Amino acid sequence: MILVGRLDDIPLGEAVRIDGDVPVAVFNVDGRLFAIDDTCTHQDASLADGWLEGCMVECPLHASCFDLRTGMPSGPPARTPVRTHEVVVDDGLVYVRVTAAVGAGV
Ligand code: FES
Repeated sequence: MILVGRLDDIPLGEAVRIDGDVPVAVFNVDGRLFAIDDTCTHQDASLADGWLEGCMVECPLHASCFDLRTGMPSGPPARTPVRTHEVVVDDGLVYVRVTAAVGAGV
């Protein structure tokens, strides 16, 4: 699991990005945490910089929206879902269990 940081450091309605092999964005939606791949599947945009509306985040570049619960885009130009990841909160710390990439042979 990857340590994201303290729960208090992810304000309501905000997101944090974890840089790594594959950047991950963690969103706080009314106290519920969701983690998805940070990079939009259309082009190179950070979804952590997008606009949050309920459980949807709008890509800041071309406005495709992604469902934080499923990773599915709501419409073009993005057509491919982002991966979703399990979020674990333990003793005030937030961790992400990154989902294996397709074909990673885990
Ligand atoms: S980069 Fe996200 S919709 Fe184009």
